[in-house]
Amino acid sequence: MAESASDALTPAQLVQHALTARQRAYAPYSHYLVGAAVLAADGTVILGCNVENASYPATICAERVALTAAIAQGKRNLRAIAVATRDGGTPCGICRQVMAELGPEMKVYISDEQGDFRVTSVRELLPDSFSRSSLLT
Ligand code: THU
Repeated sequence: MAESASDALTPAQLVQHALTARQRAYAPYSHYLVGAAVLAADGTVILGCNVENASYPATICAERVALTAAIAQGKRNLRAIAVATRDGGTPCGICRQVMAELGPEMKVYISDEQGDFRVTSVRELLPDSFSRSSLLT
């Protein structure tokens, strides 16, 4: 889903959006709730939460819900993503790869359930990633 926001959105405000998204997590199996909020260059905030499935591999992570929704909404210039979990857990490897594909320049804010967060980046989370440069030569 999209929620409008000003260009001047602060990291702390983006984290608050991720905490809101986290409340919508569908995680009846792991009970590990994850929320994500992507900030597009035009100020739009796109939310995602993890959505689990009784067929466990059909589960999708919060980050990929938000990132793919951003693309579906026509937002391709992505500036930042905030991720909220109970303990400040970091994004999984698949999500890092998708971040590298869709938002390689993004800042990443990793928050716990209190809204305490640290700042990192896609490049820091997934250095030397496999990318389009290997395919488009
Ligand atoms: N999960 C995410 O949403 N993002 C991650 O980066 C790590 C894991 C979700 C998937 C699953 O619903 C639950 O956390 C436990 O793995």
